[in-house]
Amino acid sequence: MAQLLTIEDLRLLAKRRVPRMFYDYADSGAWTESTYRANEADFAGIKLRQRVAVDMTNRTLASTMIGEPVAMPVALAPTGLTGMQHADGEILAAKAASRAGVPFTLSTMSVCSIEDVAENTDKPFWFQLYVMRDRAFIERLIDRAKAAGCSALMLTLDLQILGQRHKDIRNGLSAPPKPTLANLINLALKPRWCLGMLGTKRRSFGNIVGHASGVGDMSSLSAWTAEQFDPTLSWDDVKWIKDRWGGKLILKGILDAEDAELAAQSGADALIVSNHGGRQLDGAVSSIAALPGIVEQVGGRMEVWMDGGIRSGQDVLKAVALGARGVLIGRPFLYGLGALGEEGVRLALDIIRKEMDITMALCGKRDIQDVDGNILVKGKA
Ligand code: GLV
Repeated sequence: MAQLLTIEDLRLLAKRRVPRMFYDYADSGAWTESTYRANEADFAGIKLRQRVAVDMTNRTLASTMIGEPVAMPVALAPTGLTGMQHADGEILAAKAASRAGVPFTLSTMSVCSIEDVAENTDKPFWFQLYVMRDRAFIERLIDRAKAAGCSALMLTLDLQILGQRHKDIRNGLSAPPKPTLANLINLALKPRWCLGMLGTKRRSFGNIVGHASGVGDMSSLSAWTAEQFDPTLSWDDVKWIKDRWGGKLILKGILDAEDAELAAQSGADALIVSNHGGRQLDGAVSSIAALPGIVEQVGGRMEVWMDGGIRSGQDVLKAVALGARGVLIGRPFLYGLGALGEEGVRLALDIIRKEMDITMALCGKRDIQDVDGNILVKGKA
C-alpha cells in the first residue's frame, strides 16, 4: 500500500473501499458544488508568514472548547450515516477521537445509537440534534443524550430542508442499500466493507428506528428528511431546546452576521460558522470567508468555531488565526474511517496534528494560544 501521508491519500483509499453510494454521500455537495469547492479553495488563498530564528522548543497545541480540554482545537463533526462508511463507524471514530484527546460528536442520523456509543466508549461525547416534526421524539432524544452522559448538545440550524445532492439521487441513497443490480455489482467490488457489515447488526438509523413512530428503514434520504424534518424551526425552538437540555449548547450552521447576532443573544455557549460542508445552500460563501465578520459581530460573547474545507493542519491554524476557538472536521475523518476503520481516523487526526505543529513552529509560534492574525500575510497574497 502506498504511504498514507495526507488526508488526500486517505480519501483515495476510502474511495476504493467504500461502496459508491456511501462514498458519494460523504464526498458530495449540493447542486454545482461551488460552495463545497470554495470551502477548500479559500483556504489556499490565505498565506502564512514564515518567521526564522525564534525559539521553537516546547510547543503545545493544547486548548479548550467550551471549557473542555482538547489536545488540539479540532473536534469530529457530526456526520450522517458514519456507520455506513465502515461497520460500527461511530463507535470506532469515537474511540479514535478519545485516544487523540479530541471531542467526538454523534449525529442524530447516525447508525450506532446514542446508548450504543455510550456503552462502547469511555469518554463523554457531544450529541448533535436535528429538529423533527415529532416534538415528543425530540424531547426523548434530548433526554436520551442526557442519560447517556453527553457533555454538550449541538443543535443544527441549517438543515430544515435538505439541499439537493445530485449524486445521492442518482445513486438512490438508502440504508441499507437496496439490492439493485448496480448496487450488487458495486458491493461485489468492496469485499472488506461487505465483510464488516455482515459482522454487525448496526445497519440503519440507530437513534430513530424503533424510537419514533412510523419510521422504518430509510427508503430515500431526500423523501425521508422531507417527511421528518421540521421546516418551521425558529429561534423560539432554540430557547425551548436550550431550557429542556439545561447543559452546554452549541449552535451549528451560522453563516451570516445577522444570524450570529441572534445566536449570541440566545445564550448558547458556542456557534459554528458552517455551510454544512457545501451540502445545503450552493452559492453561499465559504465558511472561512464568513468567519472574520462573525467573530467581529459576536465580540467574545460566545465561542466561535468553524467547519468546512479543512483538509490539513495548516487549514486549522488559518482558522484559529482568523478567530476560531476550534474547528470541526467531517470528511477528513470519514475518509480515514472508510480507508482503515478506527486506525484510519487515528491517522487522519495524527496527520492534522503534525501539520499544525510544524506549521505553527515555522510561523514562529510555540503555543496555539498565541496564534492570531499576525501569522497571516495581510490582504490577498
Ligand atoms: C446531513 O445529515 C447531511 O446529509 O448533510
